[in-house]
Amino acid sequence: MRIGVFDSGIGGLFVLKELINNYPNNTYYYFGDNINIPYGTKSKYELKILSSKIIDFLITKEVDIIIIACGTISSNIYQELKEKYNLPIYDIISPTIEYLNNSDYKTVGVLATEMTIKSNIFNKINKEIYQIPCPKLVPLIENNLDYQETLDEYLKKLPKVDTIVLGCTHYPFFEDYLNRLNYKTINMGKVLCEKLNLENNKESKVRLYFSKINHDLVTNIDKIIKCDYQLEELCLNYQK
Ligand code: DGL
Repeated sequence: MRIGVFDSGIGGLFVLKELINNYPNNTYYYFGDNINIPYGTKSKYELKILSSKIIDFLITKEVDIIIIACGTISSNIYQELKEKYNLPIYDIISPTIEYLNNSDYKTVGVLATEMTIKSNIFNKINKEIYQIPCPKLVPLIENNLDYQETLDEYLKKLPKVDTIVLGCTHYPFFEDYLNRLNYKTINMGKVLCEKLNLENNKESKVRLYFSKINHDLVTNIDKIIKCDYQLEELCLNYQK
């Protein structure tokens, strides 16, 4: 299968990593729109323009399906994108909501972008939920800067909960740190892969496209993805 995956930057690579682990023999086309980072504070209108450009590009690669590896796009404009395009499109959030609604957890913390929290999508969880918008984290992660102090500040706002949803795909970056602090975490990419049932083909290829390539990006990719990949810079020519 040819699978298109996209995000505002490197966050969706955590989803790609799970996809490759579970369904290795496929061709993956990933687009990270890091020139327009962060998506988490953009309007729905902007999100629609940006994601449509990316999906149009992925379609030129003849992908069979598209996975929105971005919580912000998934929570705000998934329905619109599904209606606009005539191929299977999967969002990253609904499998996690379904998983939680069938779980025994009683209290759930959600860390996510401002726009994701504003969309109220996590209110569909039938548990006691505490939602913390974390607008400062994505730029720190993308630029390879220290995020620990900022994260600790956000965690102070969270009461004791049974589990924390990493509601933005960039956040598995600090999953080990949270686990060391004894928080249980939910990685949305892992949950998605448990629900997906993709076929495996013979060929296996990973092509990564980013709208801006620099040293920080390559360092981050190598921290996340452990397989061979081809990397290319591609600006889709939209206004910033
Ligand atoms: N990784 C994306 C998400 O899951 C977008 C983060 C951002 O660009 O603000 O929401």
